[in-house]
Amino acid sequence: MRQVLTLGLLGTGVIGGGWAARALHCGVDVIAADIQPEMENSIHEAVARAIPSLEALTAGIPMPPRGKLTFTTEPEVMAAAADFIQENVPENIETKRKALGAIARATGPDVIISSSTSGFMPSEIQEGLWHPERFVVGHPFNPVYLCPLVEVVGGERTSQAAKDSAAEFYRSIGMHALLVRREVPGHIADRLQEAMWREILHALNDDIATTSELDESIVYGFGLRLPIMGMNQICMMAGGEGGARHYLKQFAPSLDWPWSHLKAPALTDEIIDRFVQGTADQAAGRSIRELENIRDECLVAIQRVLAKHDVGAGRTLNAFEKRAKKRVERA
Ligand SMILES: NC(=O)c1ccc[n+]([C@@H]2O[C@H](COP(=O)([O-])OP(=O)(O)OC[C@H]3O[C@@H](n4cnc5c(N)ncnc54)[C@H](O)[C@@H]3O)[C@@H](O)[C@H]2O)c1
Repeated sequence: MRQVLTLGLLGTGVIGGGWAARALHCGVDVIAADIQPEMENSIHEAVARAIPSLEALTAGIPMPPRGKLTFTTEPEVMAAAADFIQENVPENIETKRKALGAIARATGPDVIISSSTSGFMPSEIQEGLWHPERFVVGHPFNPVYLCPLVEVVGGERTSQAAKDSAAEFYRSIGMHALLVRREVPGHIADRLQEAMWREILHALNDDIATTSELDESIVYGFGLRLPIMGMNQICMMAGGEGGARHYLKQFAPSLDWPWSHLKAPALTDEIIDRFVQGTADQAAGRSIRELENIRDECLVAIQRVLAKHDVGAGRTLNAFEKRAKKRVERA
């Protein structure tokens, strides 16, 4: 597969903008395509907003000169110029198939095409695509410029080489590529997020808690531990000296109690109102932009602390630093 000097983006909304900032900061040129001409301004603004956080995150790491950003409303023009394409159009199977079908033949067959889809399986999207073996899912997390995880998933017709090359490209822009063994709807992380999301909707529906109380139950407790070790290792520690086996024995009976629901409740107007009003109360007049600034400053600070202990996303940052120093030594 090709060396990635130019990243092509198909769709430049929330996720496309995040990919652009991350790649540009890592010295990769970006050609971004969106059918809405007004997205040109929007992607430049998104990149300008993200760069200070990226600079703070990578302070002390020798970074290459920033890449160059260009924009087009013609996806084929983007496809002809790109060494790797990341698709970020809305989460609709027909929209994705149509948009990818339109650009595939404008690329070389050695150009990897990756989809940011949150839930579709790669086999569903690659059906009918020209050279489907180079198609993967590369599912990122918002904000893409600060969250290092990308789930790399292959479909029935994806080659191992495409999965490996996609993972290698993502590592080169500072990400943690998690190779998902088998395609399933929602990949891995969104399944976990959805399980929590379902319970939140039930709690709102049953009037058990407000959105604020639900968020308190996360951020002051189990959520605070998660960036360090994840759920499973934390549970092992909850078993004390008895470890994982003791933990499972202790909590096994509760698995039979009706603590949680499997099916989500119907999304009624009442739940939607509770959610919308609750989260607006929590924002307490702060704009999305102000909330994003708080989120991003904390994401940078947390990752720099984790790096000191070489755990979680801090480990990814340390690996990226090593790589950057090697590149400088070789130059
Ligand atoms: N928002 C998130 O938190 C998040 C996280 C991970 C993955 N994703 C996935 O990323 C993808 C994009 O999500 P988003 O939140 O950025 O959406 P978005 O609505 O913010 O942006 C989509 C963009 O695609 C453009 N578009 C639509 N059709 C197009 C076409 N045919 N060619 C080129 N551009 C086209 C639209 O004009 C728009 O600018 C979805 O598949 C979503 O599931 C989203």
